[in-house]
Amino acid sequence: MDAPVNDLLDFLRFPSISTDPAHASDVANCATWVSKKLESIGLDSQIHPTGGHPIVVAKNKHRTGRPTVLIYGHYDVQPVDPVELWTSPPFDPQIANGIVTARGATDNKGQILAHILGVAGQIADNGDLPVNLIFLIEGEEEIGSSHLEDFLQQNAESLRCDVVAVSDTGMVAPNLPTLSYALRGIATLQIEITGPAVDLHSGVYGGTVANPITVLARILSTLHDQQGRVAVEGFYDDVVEIEQWERDAWRKLPIGEKEIRELTGVPELSGEQGYTALERTWARPTAELNGIGGGYQGEGSKTVIPSRAFAKLSFRLVPKQDPARVLEKVEAHLRSVCPSSVRMTLTGGHSGAPFLCDPNGRWGKAAQRALRKTFGGTEPVLIREGGSIPIITMLRDLLNADVLLLGLALPDCRAHSPNENFPLENFHAGIRLNRMLLEEIGSEGAVR
Ligand code: BES
Ligand code: MN
Repeated sequence: MDAPVNDLLDFLRFPSISTDPAHASDVANCATWVSKKLESIGLDSQIHPTGGHPIVVAKNKHRTGRPTVLIYGHYDVQPVDPVELWTSPPFDPQIANGIVTARGATDNKGQILAHILGVAGQIADNGDLPVNLIFLIEGEEEIGSSHLEDFLQQNAESLRCDVVAVSDTGMVAPNLPTLSYALRGIATLQIEITGPAVDLHSGVYGGTVANPITVLARILSTLHDQQGRVAVEGFYDDVVEIEQWERDAWRKLPIGEKEIRELTGVPELSGEQGYTALERTWARPTAELNGIGGGYQGEGSKTVIPSRAFAKLSFRLVPKQDPARVLEKVEAHLRSVCPSSVRMTLTGGHSGAPFLCDPNGRWGKAAQRALRKTFGGTEPVLIREGGSIPIITMLRDLLNADVLLLGLALPDCRAHSPNENFPLENFHAGIRLNRMLLEEIGSEGAVR
C-alpha cells in the first residue's frame, strides 16, 4: 500500500465524533495526529485548545512577495448510527474496488488529507511552496463551529490571507471538475410539546387530555403547503431568485431527477413546485425535520398518552436570508398554531449564513485553471451546493478574503450516511489538485 493511503487509513481510525461527549478524547487525539502530520511535512503546527474541541493551525515560513492561501477543513465527523447498516465497522476503514469506506472518508478527512499531502509533495520536491500557506483545521464543523468563531475574532491578524481554499464540497460526477460558488445557510430549532406531568393510561385519560404527539404532528404538518412551499409567513421575503444563466447551465449537467431518484432510492422526487431538483437543492430554501420522538419506542405496544414529544428542525437558507430573522418568523408561526391544551418550548441551535461568491474573479479563474489541468483538460462546471459550512461566510468577511470551494466528494459518497466512502482516485486527484492550485495561485504573484 502506498504511503498516502496508509496515512488516510490511520486518520480514519480516530472516532472523532464531535457531537458526542463520550468521544472527546478521540477528537483530541485526532487533532494531535493532524498536527504531527503537519509538522512532519515541514510546517510549523500548533494545537489551540478551545472551550470545545481543539483547532490546528500550521504555516510555512511566510515571505513577502507571495499570495497567502488559507486551507480550511475539519477533522471531526458525524455520528455513525444506525451502525447495523454499515458493511464494515465505521472506524475500521476497508478498501474494496479502489474505494475506502469509513466515517469521515469523504467528509472531510479524505479531502483535507489530500491537501496536506499535496503540500507535502511540493515541499519534498522543491523545498518550499509557491505561496504563503496557512492550514486551519477544526474539530467542530459538524456541530456548528462555535469555538472557531471566537478563535477567528481573536486571531484574525495572524490568519490574514488573500484566498481561502476549502474542499468540503462535492463534484457533480466522476472526473467532472467542479467549482462551487455558493452554499446554503442553516438555522436549527428544537420543539418540545409537554402535556400531562407523566405518561398516562390512554384508556383512562384518552379523549380528555391532549396527546403531545398528536399535537406535535399537527403543528409540524403546517410547515409546508400543498405546493411544497414553506408555509411560514414571510419565510421567502429576502430570498434572491436564481439567475437565468444558472438555470440554463444547470440543465446541461449530467445529473438530474433520474440520477437523484436512483441515488436515493425514492420512488419519486418531491419538493417545491416550479423548480428543478437541482434548483431546489442548491438555490431554494427548505424546512426539514431531522428527528422526532416521544411515547413508547420499545417492542410491542404500551397504551399511554405520553407526557412529551419533540422534534428537531432545520431550515436551509439561501442568499439573502438571515438565520436569526428566519428563526423569529418560524417561532411566531409555531406559537400561532400551538393549541392551549399543551405547553411548547422552542430551543434554537446552531446556525450559519448562506454563502455566494463570483466564481470568475482572479482566484476563481486560478482555481478553474488548476481544476482543468488536474482533470485532463476538462472544462470545470460551476455549481451551487445544498449543504452548509457555517464558518465560510465568517472566514470571508473577517479575513476579507475570497473563498474557493473545490471539493471532491461524489454524489454517492454517502456523507452523513452509513457506508460513507471515498474513491482513492479522488483522493489522489485531490493531492494533484492541491499542487496545481498552489502553483496557479502563486503564479498570480503578491497582492499586498
Ligand atoms: N461538507 C459538508 C457541507 C456540504 C455538504 C457542502 C455537501 C456541500 C455539499 C459539511 O461537513 C456539513 O455536513 N455541514 C453541515 C453543517 C451543519 C451541521 C451546521 C450540514 O450541511 O449539515
Ligand atoms: Mn458534514
